[in-house]
Amino acid sequence: MIKVVEVSLRDGLQNEKLILPTHKKKALLQKLLAAGVKEIEVTSFVHPTWIPQLADADQLASQLPFAADVNYRALVPNKKGIERALQTPIHEYAVFISASESHNRKNIHKGIRETFPVLKEVVEEAAGYGKKVRGYVSVVFGCPYEGKVPPSQVVSVCEQLFKLGVYEISLGDTIGVATPTQVKEVLTLLAKEFPAEKLAVHFHDTRGTGLVNAYVALECGITTFDSALGGLGGCPYALGASGNLATEDLLYMLHGMGLNTGIDLDALCETSRWLERELRKKLPSKVLQSYPKKKHRS
Ligand code: HMG
Ligand code: MG
Repeated sequence: MIKVVEVSLRDGLQNEKLILPTHKKKALLQKLLAAGVKEIEVTSFVHPTWIPQLADADQLASQLPFAADVNYRALVPNKKGIERALQTPIHEYAVFISASESHNRKNIHKGIRETFPVLKEVVEEAAGYGKKVRGYVSVVFGCPYEGKVPPSQVVSVCEQLFKLGVYEISLGDTIGVATPTQVKEVLTLLAKEFPAEKLAVHFHDTRGTGLVNAYVALECGITTFDSALGGLGGCPYALGASGNLATEDLLYMLHGMGLNTGIDLDALCETSRWLERELRKKLPSKVLQSYPKKKHRS
C-alpha cells in the first residue's frame, strides 16, 4: 500500500491568485474524503500576511468533519503556530526548513541554524499533546537563489531534523528542477543514514519530471508520496515553483503498476473538474486532460 499525502488544500491553494472561501475549501475536503483520501494536509498556521490564501486556517481547521482513519495535517512554523493549531482537531503537524540558506531566509526570515530551536519548540510542545510531527525539507534538489544544493547539506539538515524528533521527513523539490539521476543520487545517499520508511518525497512537476522522479523514488524504496489535485500548487517564496505532482497522474501510474492507494481515481478527476470551475482555470494534470468531459460509469 502506498501512502499518498494530498496537499492541494495547503500547498495547492497557497499559491493561487483567487482565494477560495472557507466553505468551498470545506466542500473540497468533503470530496477528497469521498474519494477515499486518508492523508490530507488541510492548511497552514503561518502568518496570514505572508500567505493570505490560508488566512482562514483557524476557522477551517475548527470545522473538520469527523472521518474514521483520516489523518488531518497542517503546517506549523513556530510557537505561535502551534498555539493556534492546538485549538483545533488537526491530528498531525509539519515543520519546515530549507536545505539552502537563502530560501530559508526568504521563506521564514531566519537562517537555517536559528530555525532549529524554533522547530524544536514546536516538536516538544506537540509531543506533550501526543501529536506526531513531520519535517519538510524544501529546495532539496535546487534553490531558486543558490542553484544546485549539495546533497551533503540535505543530509545534514535531515540529521538535525530527525534529532529534534520528527517521525518522517518529506524531501521537497520545491521548484521542480530534479532529474531522475539526481533523485537516485540523493535518495541513495540518504538511505545510508536513514530508513526509507522515514522518508517521503514531495515533487513539483514544473518541468515535467515529477512523475519519473516519483518512479525513481519508488524504486529506491519510498512508499510515501505528496501530491496535489490537478497539479495545483507552489511556494510563493520560490519563483517559478508552479505545480505539485498531480495526484491523478501519480495514481494513474501507481494503480497501473498494480500498487494500491485506496483512492478512487475517477472521483478525484471529478473533484478536479469541480475545482477548475471554482478557480476558473485549467489544471495541468495530464490524466485530467484525458479524462472524458462526461464520464458514464458502468
Ligand atoms: P516573522 O514575521 O519572522 O515572525 O514570521 P516574528 O516571530 O518576527 O513575529 C512577527 C509577528 O508575526 C508577531 O506579531 C507574531 O505574533 C506574528 P506582532 O507581535 O508583530 O503583532 N506571528 C504569527 N502570527 C500568526 N501565526 C504565526 C505567527 N508567527 C509569528 N505562526 C513566519 C515567521 C514563519 C510566521 C513567517 O515568515 C511566515 O508565515 N512565513 C510563511 C512561510 C510559508 O508559509 N511558506 C510556504 C510554505 S513552505 C512550502 O511551501 C514548501 C513545502 O511545500 C515543501 C516543498 O514544496 O518543497 C513545505
Ligand atoms: Mg510544495
